Parts: sequence; structure tokens; C-alpha cells
Amino acid sequence: MSQNETPLFTGLIEHSKKNPVQFHIPGHKKGAGMDPEFKKFIGENALSIDLINIGPLDDLHQPKGMIKKAQDLAAVAFGADHTFFSVQGTSGAIMTMVMSVCGPGDKIIVPRNVHKSVMSAIVFSGATPIFIHPDIDAELGISHGITTDAVSRALEQNPDAKGVLVINPTYFGISADLKKIVEIAHSYNVPVLVDEAHGVHIHFHDDLPLSAMQAGADLAATSVHKLGGSMTQSSVLNMKEGLVSAKRVQTILSMLTTTSTSYLLLASLDVARKRLATEGHDLISTTIKLAEKIRDEINAIDGLYCVGKEILGSKATHDYDPTKLIVSVKELGISGFDAEKWLREAYNIEVEMSDLYNILCIITPGDTDIEGSQLVTALRELSAQLKKHGDITPVTVMLPDIPVLAITPRDAFYAETEVIPIDESAGRTIAEFIMVYPPGIPIFIPGEIITKENINYIKTNIEAGLPVQGPEDYDLRHLRVIKEHRAIR
Ligand SMILES: Cc1ncc(COP(=O)(O)O)c(C=O)c1O
Repeated sequence: MSQNETPLFTGLIEHSKKNPVQFHIPGHKKGAGMDPEFKKFIGENALSIDLINIGPLDDLHQPKGMIKKAQDLAAVAFGADHTFFSVQGTSGAIMTMVMSVCGPGDKIIVPRNVHKSVMSAIVFSGATPIFIHPDIDAELGISHGITTDAVSRALEQNPDAKGVLVINPTYFGISADLKKIVEIAHSYNVPVLVDEAHGVHIHFHDDLPLSAMQAGADLAATSVHKLGGSMTQSSVLNMKEGLVSAKRVQTILSMLTTTSTSYLLLASLDVARKRLATEGHDLISTTIKLAEKIRDEINAIDGLYCVGKEILGSKATHDYDPTKLIVSVKELGISGFDAEKWLREAYNIEVEMSDLYNILCIITPGDTDIEGSQLVTALRELSAQLKKHGDITPVTVMLPDIPVLAITPRDAFYAETEVIPIDESAGRTIAEFIMVYPPGIPIFIPGEIITKENINYIKTNIEAGLPVQGPEDYDLRHLRVIKEHRAIR
């Protein structure tokens, strides 16, 4: 089959054209049994292919027909031996990767700045995480990837690990030397699992970091929906044969997936793959040029710094994705969240995310010069307004230490617990997750020892207005910790 074909999308259209009388779910029956306002808004076309796994339409849980063909075309496009479609986002694909290689008590080497889905899979599987400290950028206040040296050390000490997980590229677009990491891990026969949530496009352009499949990794969870043009929640899990069993991956993916898989999401993966494979290179070339132009213009604005290739050269910053615009606003004396809010209120601009020091904007084939100039104009005014008010005190970067893990996340999650005021929690072992989302990287994971420094960091994020998530108490006045049993007097 050619990459111009879309077996799944085309198959769905052909099925809907036959206009069968439907006595199956979804009960809205092509929209006829649905709220009319919503039906009008969504449109009859979309509703006509909102179908389910009836005979002619194949089944994601055991693909043999049009879904299989679409997955096979995706595998060729991504340079994989097998591609599995996910309608559970990249989170579902990540949990599948981890649970495909790890069981209870197994070790998995992971950077500490992983997405919460990795930690969820570690809790579910009962695996023990061996954490690698990510490289910290004290200027920008962000974490980068892991170094080859750290991976070597981790494997020397844990040659029995069942996997090494790498984030490539990071949310901010920075890549480690993945090829070398794969070589090191494979010399121990340990598979490499890549969180490629922010890198679906990198496979399709030489000026971008190496993709997981190009670097020889074993598994990669790749968000087609984030930067590849498919619908939100649709992702792929790519794999190379060798150290991991494709059958095991299919079984686990199926265990973690709804039986009511959305054909709209699946079809959007099929067409996104076609576009990436046939036009991706040209589209991405235009996107890179546009992003570079915006980057130069932002760097000409007083008090702003938009990260470029000068960031490369350290062991953790091997390559980067120029379509990501990390804009450091700390010299303007405001937080990234203040800038995000100001852009929303003054210019109706929504950024991808902000943190205490930066905003992150993503440029994709969906952008043009028009949106680029709107962003630059807005940032110029933000800087001018702040500079007009005179004295600016640049924000100092504060990054807390990574807490110590006292017991495995699973043991902590299922332990006997109690809820105590956050201000009395330093020194206790936490039993819940706390993170800022986005990016969803835990400040605490179950089993870690709470420190005063980390509590202050949480409070600083809350005060800055950033979305701190995870604990049962949304107001974060209390934390769930492991119960202490004191001697009875
Ligand atoms: C690094 C990273 N990994 C995984 C994910 C999960 O992706 P999804 O939202 O598709 O489940 C995200 C989402 O923000 C992410 O930033």
C-alpha cells in the first residue's frame, strides 16, 4: 500500500455511504438521537463515522482489517516494526510500555522528571524506579534530559534493570544523545522506552533531533495529537522487534484500553500519518523557518530571551527542536504565569504552558506569519509596559532538590495512611502525587520524604497561580502521608 492511502478513514466513509440501518451503539445513530444543537455544531459527517467495532470496521483490540492496514502503513512511516494506535493518549501508550517490560519488584531506570503516567504505571506494575537525576538548567529553571554518563552509571549499578526510559525530546524540545543511550542500554540487553510525547514530527525532518525509531529504541509512545495533526487523545506506540514481545505489548495495550474505541480518533491517526509521510518534510521546513523568524524577533525585545541553538553542547542538551519557543520572562520581573495571563487578557493569546520563569509557545504547520506577528507584537507591548514602570527586579530561579524515595511508590500508595496539615508534613512519607500540570512532572511521588524546601516550592507555585494538581485536598492545606505507629504510653 502507498502512504497516500488511508485505509481506515476511507473504509469508514465507504461504510457510512452505504447508510446501513443501525441497531448497534452508539445510540445517537448518526446523530439522529442526539441533542440537536450539538448535532448541528459537530456536523453530520463527523457523527456518521462515530462508529464502533462492528464486523466490517475491524477491532483495535485484535486488528485484522482496516485498522491493521492503517497501523502497518504507520509502522512504515515511522520506521517501526509495529505500530499500535492508542485512543488513551500517550499516557495509555506510556503505561503500556512500562507494564510490557516490568512486573512486581522489577527495576526500571527512569529520569525523575517523568510524566505522571510513568509513575502511575510504576505503581500499577509494582516495579521499583531507579531514578536518574535529570540535568537541571539553573538559568531557565527547567529540567533537561539525562546524560549518557548517568545511564552508564545506573546500568553498571543495576544491570538487572528491565528497561531504561528516556524523555526525547522534553516538553521544552531538548534532546539527549538517544542513539548513544540506546547503544549503552543494549550492551546490557536492556530495552529503551522513549516518551516521545513531544516529538511525533522529528522523524520527518533531518534538522530535528533523531526520533526514537531512528535511534534504535525498542518502544516509543508518540503523541500524534500534540504536534502531528490528529485529534486530541490519539497517539501511537511504535516498536522495534528484538528485546520486547509485540504480542505482550498488544495484550497490555488492550488491557488498558476502552472496549468502545473512538473511530473518529482512529481515523484522524490514519490521515495524520498520511500527511506526515507525504508532506511532512515540506510542512516542517516551513514551520522551522517561521519559528526561527519569531525567535529572532522575540530576542530583539528588551528583557526577553527565546532559547536557541546556543543551548546545545552540554551532555544533556545534545539536540533541540527549534519549533518550540521557550521564552524566559524572568528579566521582566514577572513569572511565566503572569505573562501567560497578560497575553490572554490583553491579546487573546493562549500559550502552551507557563511556569515560574518561562512561557512555552509551540509553532506547527497550523501557524502562519499572522499568528507569529501577533505574538511578537503582544510581547513587545508587555516588555514596554513593564519597562515604563521603571525598577524591575529580575526573578531568581529556585529549584528544589529531588526528594529521597523511602519506599516504593506502590507500597506507599497502598499503605495505611492519614491526612495531616501540609505545614506539619516535613519529614513524613507522602502517599500521593503532587505536580504542576502542564507539564505534569511530579514534585512529589508516593514514597518520597517530604521536605520543607519542597513544601515552599509548592506554595510558590500556588501563589504564582500555577495549576498544582494531584492531592486529594485541592486547596493543598493537607497532605496524605503514611501513618506512623507510635508506641502507646
Ligand atoms: C512528557 C509527556 N509525556 C507524556 C504525556 C502524556 O500525553 P497525553 O496527554 O497524550 O496522554 C505528556 C502530556 O502532557 C507529556 O508532556
